[in-house]
Amino acid sequence: SIKACLFDLDGVLVDTAKYHYLAWKRLAEELGFTFTEQDNEKLKGVSRMASLDILLSVGGLQFDNAKKYELAERKNNWYFESISKMDHTEILPGALNFLKACRENGLKTALGSASKNAMTILDNTGLTPYFDAIIDGTRTTNAKPDPEVFLLGAAALSVPPEQCIVFEDAEAGVEAAHRAGMSCVGIGSPATLGQAELVVSSLQEMTIERLKELSLAR
Ligand code: BG6
Ligand code: MG
Repeated sequence: SIKACLFDLDGVLVDTAKYHYLAWKRLAEELGFTFTEQDNEKLKGVSRMASLDILLSVGGLQFDNAKKYELAERKNNWYFESISKMDHTEILPGALNFLKACRENGLKTALGSASKNAMTILDNTGLTPYFDAIIDGTRTTNAKPDPEVFLLGAAALSVPPEQCIVFEDAEAGVEAAHRAGMSCVGIGSPATLGQAELVVSSLQEMTIERLKELSLAR
């Protein structure tokens, strides 16, 4: 049976994609090209440096590593300005209620995010106290679809992977969950998250009942 729920952050608990987009777009404009919202879709769930590589390929530009770190830092400073102003009103619908329900039902909760900014976002939105363990981009070396972030989460909770369920909005995250030996609930559209055991449009649709049905089906 299920003992723990592991949550991705960006796109599952908070909508930060718009802030990432504004910062990447600003960087692209400084570099002399346009970066569209459609281009931004390719960055969901992708690590900071891999995101920069995708952005630069859209602009047809190449730089050495030193310059790339400088560009990524510039983007992150703008992004950080946006997330510094976040508060609890930016928690996605259903997320807080479902986190509370998990804990009231004796399930452990962990964060499994690629972001190095996760603590700022969790603290500003007031979500930090709802997690038994927090694994973010400062703790991992391999980005999703590598299972590292979720395996570290399960280990921190002392729950075996097969008793964990992951909540993810990115295709790479669903793959990471499966490679960790965990089931996955996709948050978004079945068109992109079809590999997940269940897809819902938001955590508002998620209940402990549905979680139990999922674990019976395994
Ligand atoms: C993921 C986001 O959660 O974190 C990506 O979906 C982002 O868009 C990645 O690039 C890394 O985040 P950060 O905050 O460390 O740049
Ligand atoms: Mg995400």
